[in-house]
Amino acid sequence: MTATPSSTKEQRVTIKQLHSMKQKGEKVALLTAYDYPFALIEDCVGVELILVGDSMGMTVLGYETTLPVTMVEMLNHTGAVARAVKRAMVIGDMPFLSYQTSTAEAVRNAGRFLSEAGAQGVKIEGGVRVKDKAKAIVDAGIPLLGHIGLTPQSVCQYGGFGVQGKSAEEAIKLVDDAKALVEVGAFAIIAECIPAQVTQLLLEEVPVPVYGIGAGECDGQILVIHDLIGLFEQFLPKFAKKYADVSSIAKDAVQSYVEDVKAGRFPEVEHQFKIKKEELAKLKSLLKS
Ligand code: KIV
Repeated sequence: MTATPSSTKEQRVTIKQLHSMKQKGEKVALLTAYDYPFALIEDCVGVELILVGDSMGMTVLGYETTLPVTMVEMLNHTGAVARAVKRAMVIGDMPFLSYQTSTAEAVRNAGRFLSEAGAQGVKIEGGVRVKDKAKAIVDAGIPLLGHIGLTPQSVCQYGGFGVQGKSAEEAIKLVDDAKALVEVGAFAIIAECIPAQVTQLLLEEVPVPVYGIGAGECDGQILVIHDLIGLFEQFLPKFAKKYADVSSIAKDAVQSYVEDVKAGRFPEVEHQFKIKKEELAKLKSLLKS
């Protein structure tokens, strides 16, 4: 399939539309994207919300965690995605230390995703403990997507990427986090790596859409694009479904190229530029003189 940008006449997905989909029980398909070509493909096939996740630090930039990702990196990649997307809502993921330090920094950095990169909103990790930052962002008129459960920017506190909310006490904290985000006006919440039964209780407690990644059934699902297409070989989380093995396809193609170059099979005539015979003759005589 050749991906082309969706028609410019197509309407951008709005918060109102996402809320109405929840009311009607229509599921929302969310996905991460980090660059122009993948964003084109995702928009073309009807993904409603594209997250330029800081998972990019691991899937694209080769970091071991999301912690080293910077605002500059996020803004560059969000810009590339936003330039490709006409219909989906594009959300920029606020990197570590871009919103935790103060409400003023949170608002300024969140705003840059809209004014410089062309996103329609931002995502931050955490609930109760970032409530003041979340409120300041929403009060500045910036659409906010919450993220609770396994929040990878806290990996050093967790000591790994494990399932959250496994005890009743932990699950109550998740509900409190979600309620804190709703109270300040987050338009939706991503719940990552929590038991499916806890997600069901969460859905009963909050009025906004809850989108899951490793959280069982909810109002919609989000996956990391590299997991879905099999492009990140280092690790595939239990909750991810691999729909293709793009890594193998790419490896085969690159291997064939290397073999062709070494065997002199590439480039073929069709890949070469030629000058006219007369010009060639003239050139040869010029070189001889
Ligand atoms: O960074 C990311 O891609 C995310 C999703 C996995 C929710 O936060």
